[in-house]
Amino acid sequence: MGKDVIVACDFSSKEQVFDFLDKFENEERKPFLKIGMELYYAEGPDIVREIKRRGHKIFLDLKLHDIPNTVKKAMTVLSRLDVDICNLHAAGTVRMMQAALEGLTREDGTRPLLIAVTQLTSTDQESMESDLLIREPIDKVVMHYASKAKEAGLDGVVCSPLEAQKVHDTCGRDFLTITPGVRFANGDIGDQKRVMTPAQAKEIGSDYIVVGRPITAADDPVAAYRRCVNDFIG
Ligand code: C5P
Repeated sequence: MGKDVIVACDFSSKEQVFDFLDKFENEERKPFLKIGMELYYAEGPDIVREIKRRGHKIFLDLKLHDIPNTVKKAMTVLSRLDVDICNLHAAGTVRMMQAALEGLTREDGTRPLLIAVTQLTSTDQESMESDLLIREPIDKVVMHYASKAKEAGLDGVVCSPLEAQKVHDTCGRDFLTITPGVRFANGDIGDQKRVMTPAQAKEIGSDYIVVGRPITAADDPVAAYRRCVNDFIG
């Protein structure tokens, strides 16, 4: 899989998702979709199967974090769903990440890509220090988690577009960066604090951009998607 635009399907029911996907029915390029906890917990694994049947790739964003044995078994179930990317929290330790990879790998040796979440962007230096007792600078913590994910054999991390270059410098060009926080130059940034345009994300070497509202809430979602693809992939 090469560079791609991943559309965050932050909808709460399958009716809303299919209304949205119907707009892309005549598109040659089927958007890569991100399904998060809200939709997955509302609709269950069938939503993944139905969307796969429509020909979309899926990043299942469930951010697993538990003891290694539990995560391993859960990942085995997800690998049977035939998703293309899934993820977990690097804070679960290298052992948990290795167990997840084992669980995810199918009998024929194939598996979905496995990506780590480092520190959520909702965590800041102050809450990290006071709630988690982590006293190192947050960017050092993010790079440390990225290195541990690489050591465990994972494929990459979700990170801010502003961190993508440093992640590549630390973990190598082949270690994937998936970056949310993308907005068009003239667009509403909403609740995102630090944003980049698709063209800037391309420039700094993001491998995948995750784009939600600039596409899902656009007057013409198909045109917004095409613009994203054009700016990011060319
Ligand atoms: O609508 P918007 O483009 O802001 O959506 C971004 C998507 O990426 C949402 O699904 C959000 O949960 C996710 N995300 C994020 N920041 C992170 C991790 C995930 O915005 N650090």
